[in-house]
Amino acid sequence: MQKVIVLDFGAQYGQLIARRVRDLRVYSEIMPCDAPASEIAAAEPSAIILSGGPASVYAEDAPELDPGIFDLDLPILGFCYGQQIMAKTLGGVVGHTEVGEYGPATISRVSPSRLLDGTPDEQTVWMSHRDSVAKVPDGFTITASTSVCPVASMECAERNLYATQFHPEVRHTTYGTQMLSNFLFGICGLEPSWSMDNLIDSLVDEVRAKVGGDRVILGLSGGVDSSVVGALLSRAIGKQLTCVFVNHGLLRKNEPEEVEEVFTKQFDVDFVHVHAEERYAKLLAGITDPEQKRKIIGTQFWEEFFAVAQQTGGVKFLAQGTIYPDIIESGARKTGGKASTIKSHHNLIPFPEGVSFDLIEPLDHFFKDEVRALGTARALGTALGLPDHIVWRQPFPGPGLAIRIIGDVTPEKLEILKNADAIVREELDAYNARLFEETGERNSEHSCWQYFAVLPDIKSVGVMGDERTYQRPVIVRAVESTDAMTADWAKLPYDVLGKISSRIVAEVPGVNRVVYDCTPKPPGTVEWE
Ligand code: XMP
Repeated sequence: MQKVIVLDFGAQYGQLIARRVRDLRVYSEIMPCDAPASEIAAAEPSAIILSGGPASVYAEDAPELDPGIFDLDLPILGFCYGQQIMAKTLGGVVGHTEVGEYGPATISRVSPSRLLDGTPDEQTVWMSHRDSVAKVPDGFTITASTSVCPVASMECAERNLYATQFHPEVRHTTYGTQMLSNFLFGICGLEPSWSMDNLIDSLVDEVRAKVGGDRVILGLSGGVDSSVVGALLSRAIGKQLTCVFVNHGLLRKNEPEEVEEVFTKQFDVDFVHVHAEERYAKLLAGITDPEQKRKIIGTQFWEEFFAVAQQTGGVKFLAQGTIYPDIIESGARKTGGKASTIKSHHNLIPFPEGVSFDLIEPLDHFFKDEVRALGTARALGTALGLPDHIVWRQPFPGPGLAIRIIGDVTPEKLEILKNADAIVREELDAYNARLFEETGERNSEHSCWQYFAVLPDIKSVGVMGDERTYQRPVIVRAVESTDAMTADWAKLPYDVLGKISSRIVAEVPGVNRVVYDCTPKPPGTVEWE
């Protein structure tokens, strides 16, 4: 399979590069910037792209690359820091420009360029730099400049080396996709033939080669990432996979049944449903502090999980649904590379004395929407086969409903919250579906991204029929967001809110009032705890 390796120098937009290449139907993977040339050669790429990065090439701890990559006889394309490190490594000079450039800039073509072929002589690109190349290495020509950046792009066509100070991977670079296409198809001569279907085939092959005849264990949460790993491994190794579903009793209404249904009826794996509801209820009794709840729930998960691993016996591999943004969030930025991060990330798993597994993380190069596409892609004539309710499941916190019940968690409160939450989801699923029908976009501007009910630890007076009530309120939370880092409260139509309110009060015993949370994040958070 033709493959492009992106060397990651810790770029703000770095993870996007591999994504853009895959969008052009060429397979692409990220490797840490300091990967040895021999390791890169062993991956048999057709080309290399050097990402941008926040450092100055002359800073003491500036990320380095193995100069040997320039002897691999592969086409190489560098962006921003990638251009600077290419220049410095090959004998050019990088210096500070008088004025930094951040945001849109206009480049002017100064000589013919295979990379810029078919794009206008003057065009808008996205810049984000202070340093830039002051003198190009021998054999290179400058192909474009801006008013403050003499080397906006350079190339040495003879050696198939190309670089830009700007970021073609960012949508604000108007002809960025054209430039990437020029590189992939014009310069490297690649074929736009890769698809999610090929990906399933190659991931299945990789898993089989790695696992051989051994046993793999996977913690299923019911979310899309672990479910796609489950589906993929089931295709690759069938009954050699044990899926452990730890039911902490804090999932939403009907969810445990739905997970069991999918993984026992649709997939031929060894499925273990751990009924840990009572153990969790005991551990959480009387606990009101949110962080303590999180800690108890997390620690108990691994207790339950390792107990199954031990009973199963002979388990060599632990599979995980880690996706690329998890790696970024767990600190790739700070450590300057993916490999070192994976270690720290997994040190978080409290392996008991003497227990160790090899890891399998088939999704660690991919973004959420790619994982979703994988979950429904067709390969070898059959889809991986996950139902919509799993593939499109909204984010749900690991500690589950425990952090949506303010104060201590009791069976009575759980029952109220599950029932109220089911109504919120039912009504807003229907609202989202109507918007989807109207706009054709699953996450249109007006649809909500995450929605749920919260149960506060208070009661209020109401009147039902002729009787005074003193019961609990339910808070409805619905937010619009793309990444959960920031969020706005969803401007839901009054009739939708009204229906949710009247249904909850009528259908959920113990609730006499419904309120809507209209706080953005920041200053609020999405969850209440
Ligand atoms: P906050 O409340 O921090 O939530 O604005 C942002 C996103 O993260 C989810 N969330 C969690 N997910 N464990 C998780 O797996 C947690 O402890 C946790 N806390 C919040 C939340 O649902 C939202 O999508």
